[in-house]
Amino acid sequence: MPIHKPLVLIALLAALLPTCFAFADAASQENDVAALGAEVTALSGQALDDDAIHRLTAIDQTLATEQVVNVAVDQQRVLTALAKSQNAGALEHVRSVFENAPERRGSAARALAAATTIRPTDLQDWRYMVRSLPVVQGDEAVDVLSALQRFRTRANKGQWVRQVILIGLQLPVNQQSAATGLLRHWTGVPLKKSEASEWTLEKYQQWFSQEYPDQPEAVLPVDLTGRKWTMVTLEPALQTFRTSDTMVQQGELVYQKAGCQKCHRRGKVGEALGPDLTSLGWRRQRREILHATLYPSHELNEEYPTVTIVLKSGKSLTGMMSASSADALAIVSSTGIREELSRTDVETIVNQKISNMPDGLLEPLSEDEIMSLIALLASTDGVPLPHSDAGP
Ligand code: HEC
Repeated sequence: MPIHKPLVLIALLAALLPTCFAFADAASQENDVAALGAEVTALSGQALDDDAIHRLTAIDQTLATEQVVNVAVDQQRVLTALAKSQNAGALEHVRSVFENAPERRGSAARALAAATTIRPTDLQDWRYMVRSLPVVQGDEAVDVLSALQRFRTRANKGQWVRQVILIGLQLPVNQQSAATGLLRHWTGVPLKKSEASEWTLEKYQQWFSQEYPDQPEAVLPVDLTGRKWTMVTLEPALQTFRTSDTMVQQGELVYQKAGCQKCHRRGKVGEALGPDLTSLGWRRQRREILHATLYPSHELNEEYPTVTIVLKSGKSLTGMMSASSADALAIVSSTGIREELSRTDVETIVNQKISNMPDGLLEPLSEDEIMSLIALLASTDGVPLPHSDAGP
């Protein structure tokens, strides 16, 4: 099949696009973006040759690095065209967007989802899509959930099954079948297809708490009454979020003020009672960081279990176990109080399904302070890229 090289088009657009974004005023920047959009349309409508792939990758980088607005649609089209191109370099670009740009992870996963019609057995695509489950929303989520049903491989570990239920609960009712369809595919429940329509998300929630008793319930977090800061009240600030060096610097002060350093290390600051947050900005997107801070017990990290120690005297203490000597135990409460106990005084130790991280930590802060804290935690300046997340 002959491949049409859109050389004339590229030459023409290249002549039209030399303006440097940094110096362009708002109006011409809009024009440039519109021109790039038109170019994306022209390029992504055909079989891609090496030149086109090269150009699309360059456009993607331009759109991603310039803080331009309203480019999400074009960016999605670029990633989808690259993912579907069957070209190794193009695919590599999409996967590196997933790894290195957490804010675009949902978009990269959606592009891979579109490519499953062409590559329905690529397990690497499958893994990226499963890893995107904590971040995909709306149509992105529907595409990913539907694409995962095309694979024979199942992710039936509790955390992933729970995630699919949680995504489903956030979808409009008429799209929830994308979630229930995947749940049936992964868990094999219900066995009979004729019963599938009875299995609503509610039913899966009940089933989940019995099937996976060690996992937190598959329910969306509920805001305590009277809370000033919630996902809803902070949504507008999150939508218009722009980071800056000043915000990151202010974030350092907020980190201390809010007491995060009592449990978290970041760089050389803070204690190691909770996870190290140094490379958090590579691992998670701003929305996830805010969510984890607002609702600590919503996702529990099994490396930092909260326990209740009941003593033979009847007294009980709740907190995190900490290193101590051979015949003693130490427990640190959520307010940082450490107590040493003799092992012989201990009656039982019970695991708790709540985080030792207190909620409401953001309540004393202003909206600006919260956004500075997020800017700090999401910042990857000078932080080396860690090994990728433990995936499915
Ligand atoms: C009393 C100890 C404690 C304090 C104080 C604390 N955290 Fe945590 N945090 C934890 C623990 C423990 C976890 C692991 C989740 C769990 O409980 O299983 C965690 C998890 C997190 C996570 C998810 C980390 C990841 O790896 O994805 C974020 C983000 C976070 N904390 C942010 C904060 C911020 C911001 C503050 C300050 C406002 C703070 N924490 C204060 C103990 C604490």
